Amino acid sequence: MSLFITFEGPDGSGKTTQIELLAERLRDQGHEVLITREPGGTFIGDQIRAVVHDVKNVEMTRETEFLLYSASRAQLVRQVIRPHLERGGTVLCDRFADSSMAYQGYGRELDLDMVRCITQFATGGLCPALTVYLDLPVEVGLQRKESAHAAQAGEWNRLDQQTLDFHQRVRQGYLRMAEADTDRWLAVDAAQSIPDTQAAIRARLERLLSERAK
Ligand code: TYD
Repeated sequence: MSLFITFEGPDGSGKTTQIELLAERLRDQGHEVLITREPGGTFIGDQIRAVVHDVKNVEMTRETEFLLYSASRAQLVRQVIRPHLERGGTVLCDRFADSSMAYQGYGRELDLDMVRCITQFATGGLCPALTVYLDLPVEVGLQRKESAHAAQAGEWNRLDQQTLDFHQRVRQGYLRMAEADTDRWLAVDAAQSIPDTQAAIRARLERLLSERAK
């Protein structure tokens, strides 16, 4: 049974840790788990990632930025995600289409219907069965990212240097999307401990798996 789960939320919200922990659980249950991320996840996507995140690219328009993320996504879906799902595997993706809705749609204030439409084209309509949103207050997320960067453990990208207002809009966008579709979304308070966050995700996953088994 194939399964596609995506993770959203700011850097510092612990997406990577939660993905690894969930992958462990799923592998124990016999799932063939593949972990990937956006932007990137393919040779072509990694090149796009370098361009779109380069802090030197100050002239990049929001339209260009959105199309670059979409191009990376189109490649990842066809080269990596879809083939794995077609083999019956499980894909855990660190960011997916909802990042474009949140950052380019709500954050950059591009027309939401346009973002939806181009995203539909890029993904070929592929939609996650579950999207986990790790929610954190904006200041906390940025602080965590800044300290990781200072410790050389993290990448500081063009999006991180946007205003607090921008990041607030992104967060509000995520919260709105999560509220509007609770069938697909699980919003978790990422300020809780790592085990508590993981427990909330696992509980929801169990529910999803048992519903599917019916
Ligand atoms: P990354 O270094 O992968 O960090 P994170 O841990 O936050 O995922 O940076 C990804 C950045 O790209 C992040 O700032 C959000 C941004 N982004 C978009 O703006 N739109 C998108 O569609 C995607 C996939 C990412």
